[in-house]
This record gives sequence, structure tokens and C-alpha cells, in this order.
Amino acid sequence: MTPPGSPSPAIATAAVILAAGMGTRMRSILPKVMHAIGGRPMVQHVLATLMEEKISPVVAVIGPDMDGVAKAVSPHQTVRQKDRLGTGHAVLQAKDALAGFKGDVLIVYGDTPFVAAETIQHMRAARTAEQKPSIVVLGFRPKDPGAYGRLITSDSGLERIVEAKDAKPEELKVGLCNSGIMLADANVLWDLLAGVKPNNAKGEYYLTDVVGLARSKSLACAVVEGPEDEMLGINSRVELAEAEAIFQRARRLRAMENGATLTAPDTVYFSADTKIGKDVEIGPFVHFGPGVTVEDGVVIKGFCHFEGAHLSTGAIVGPYSRLRPGASIGKDAHVGNFVEIKNAHLDEGAKVNHLSYVGDADVGAKANVGAGTITANYDGFNKSRTQIGAGASIGSNTVLVAPVKVGEGGMTGAGAVVRKDVPKDGLALNSSRQETREGFAAKYREMKKAAKSQSINKKSES
Ligand code: UD1
Ligand code: MG
Repeated sequence: MTPPGSPSPAIATAAVILAAGMGTRMRSILPKVMHAIGGRPMVQHVLATLMEEKISPVVAVIGPDMDGVAKAVSPHQTVRQKDRLGTGHAVLQAKDALAGFKGDVLIVYGDTPFVAAETIQHMRAARTAEQKPSIVVLGFRPKDPGAYGRLITSDSGLERIVEAKDAKPEELKVGLCNSGIMLADANVLWDLLAGVKPNNAKGEYYLTDVVGLARSKSLACAVVEGPEDEMLGINSRVELAEAEAIFQRARRLRAMENGATLTAPDTVYFSADTKIGKDVEIGPFVHFGPGVTVEDGVVIKGFCHFEGAHLSTGAIVGPYSRLRPGASIGKDAHVGNFVEIKNAHLDEGAKVNHLSYVGDADVGAKANVGAGTITANYDGFNKSRTQIGAGASIGSNTVLVAPVKVGEGGMTGAGAVVRKDVPKDGLALNSSRQETREGFAAKYREMKKAAKSQSINKKSES
């Protein structure tokens, strides 16, 4: 039994994500909700929030040709809405998928990615408040209410929602607007949706009509207000860019609040899944693509580009380093300018400081990879690995033709093309012997100068 005065336990909650609209204003072959913010499709931002709130099951309502969206939301279910007959019709498409579910249904939009878990918590709490409203609508007060539905309230709560196109002039003056997000008891919702008729300006089945229908059955309805910036819906590339800016600003602040130093925060780009530890220094113009983890105490100098990479404590990377998927930089390892690393592990204290490509490789602890080293990992058909042992020293401009192994403490001479394994503590060299000609350079210059003055004399004579 719940002790008196303690909050009521949360009601089991399922979610329906409305995502059937193509979003013609995006002018894209990609469905709108697949456009990314922070490298993650916007529908997955919505899903992440639902997961944070432990909402389950989740059903996404998508268009007939949206297999990509189905994949992006899997393993959650999707149902197809063949004809877009309105938000009420869209929600009804999820009814069969939720058959037998008892509890609340939260309706969210796939193109409104910033609604916070905390705001959803407020809505859930409102359902168990004193009046026990059957429906809770998330409202907000935008600077420009424009085409948003207006929330018409009375002393007893929310009375109805009127769409801007159907509103009377005095209703249009109402500043409290419908975000579109709604929480309702499942049985009540399915019951009321069955009674929604398309007799309105757009000829659509409006989800919003369930509020008026609930009131006509004396069921209470309530509004929870949320901040405008969470309700941002994305309809165009311009709005997508604005959303990206909002997202990046939030991520930069979060990184700094968690103890990272960003010397030029406005120039650093994060992905939704970027993980940054404490006492990390990030210089200007650093781009974190998807799948990057940075442990505590890493220094990232300016102009780096990372994706699918792991940087361990004490690593120093950049400026101008590129880490591609599968790059794992060990503790205190160094990666310098114009170095590309892909699917390779640098063990503790290893150094690749200048102008190198290290792909499909394992570099042992404290090994030093000289300037201009290339792992030739691809023969046009297969990718092969290069192994560089601990403490090895790879001379400048070495080409390591994989599969090949340099043993522990092994060395390669400058310019070596290494096709055969180098044994432990061995040296591989294959450059031809150097020929030295005393005084040649001086003679060469004299010869060239003489040739030049002769040709000038000839020109002036002609
Ligand atoms: C809707 C609300 C309005 C609210 C506004 C907030 C209704 C009738 N109106 O209006 O009160 O202020 O959102 O942005 O609900 N969708 C489908 N299938 C459909 C229709 C829509 O999946 O048949 C999806 C869309 O892809 C979109 C969402 O539902 O994600 C909202 O649809 P939209 O057409 O943008 O509704 P609005 O007219 O903006
Ligand atoms: Mg809309």
C-alpha cells in the first residue's frame, strides 16, 4: 500500500510517435524525421527521450515508403498510415499494435526532437493530480502563436483545442498553444478517437478534438506548460540548422559543466552520442562525428576530425588529426598533425606524430612511428593488418606492406619498404647505397648559371 502523502506510482505508459509526414518543405527524398541533428536522425532523439523515461511499448506511425524510418526505430514497432487523413487518424493506426495495453498513451511527434524527459515527467505527474484528468496536453506560449492550435481553458481545466484555421478572432488571441504532445488513458483515447469526425477547415481527423469530446462526457482535461524551445518542430532545412545550433550549444555547455575546457566552444561540433570526460582540453574547430569516447585528461588540439574513435586518458591528439572508425588511442599516446588513423590501436605511450596513415594496425606500447609512415593495408582486393611491436622505431617514410609484422624493439630505416616481417630487435633496410660526389653541387650551380647568362646574351643580340 502507498503510504499517505507519497507521490502516486507512475502509470504504465506507452508511446505513439507520429512520423508519417514526408515533410515536403525539406525538399528531400529522405523522410523528414531521418534528417539528423548532432549526427542522429531526429526520430532517434525522440526515442532516446522516451527510453530515458522508460516508456514502453513504443509504436511509430510512418508513411508507406518509409522503410528507413522503420529501421531507425527498430526494435520498436512501426505501423503504416497509407493516407494522411490527420493526426487523429494517424494515432488510430497504432490502436491494434497497442491492443491489450492498459495504462497511458503518450503521443509525440517525430519532428519535435527536443521535448525533455523532465517535461514528460510533469505531464505524467499531472495525470495523477487531484482532478485525475483523463487527458493531459502539453501547452506552451510561443512568441508568435501563428498557426498553432489554441488551448481554450476554464476554471475546471482544459475545455477544447481549436485549430488556428477554425478559430474565431477572439480564440486566435489566446496565447496558450498546443505543442501536439498529449498523454491520455488508453481506453479513453481509443473510445474518443472513434468519435472524431473530419468536419473542419482541413477536412482532417484532428487528434485535438478528443479534448472537447472528453469534456462532453464530463471527463477532466488538463494543460501542463513547457518551455517554447523544447517544442521546436522542424519543417525546413533552415529550421533544421536552427535546431542543430540549439543542440550544439546545449552539448558544449554540458561538456564544460562536466569539466572539459573548450577554448573556442562555438567552433566545436559534437554528436548526440559523444562522451567527454573530465579535464579534457578541446581546441578550436574540432568535429566529433558519431561514436567517439574521450576519457579524462585527454588533450585535443585544434582542427581535428574524429568518428568511431576512443581516446584513453592522457592521450594528446592534434592539431589536424583524423581518427576514423576503429581508432583507439591508448593511454598517454600521441597523434600529431596530418595523421590519419583507422581501425588501429595505439598502445600506451605510442607516438605517431607527423604525416602518417596507420590503418588496420596494432602499434605496441612506446613504439615510435616516424614522419610519413604509411601502412599499405589494401592490395585492391583485401585489407590486411600491420603489427608494430612495443618499443619499435619506424623510420621516416617507411611503407609497411601488410600483412607484415615488426617485432618488439625492431627498427626500419628511413624510406624502407617493408614486405617481410622484421624480427624482434632487428632492422629492416632496403634503400640502395648512397653515392657521394665531392664538390658536385657547387659545380652544378656554376654550370646552370653559365647556361642562363648565355641564353640572355643570345636574346639581346637577336
Ligand atoms: C498539429 C496540431 C496543432 C498543434 C501543432 C503543433 C492537430 C489537428 N493539430 O497541427 O494543434 O498546435 O500540431 O505543431 O493535431 N501526421 C501524421 N499523419 C497525419 C497527419 C500528421 O503522421 O495524417 C504527423 C506529422 O508528420 C507531424 C505531426 O503528425 O509530425 C503533426 O502534423 P501536422 O500536419 O504538422 O499538424 P499541424 O497542422 O502542425
Ligand atoms: Mg506542424
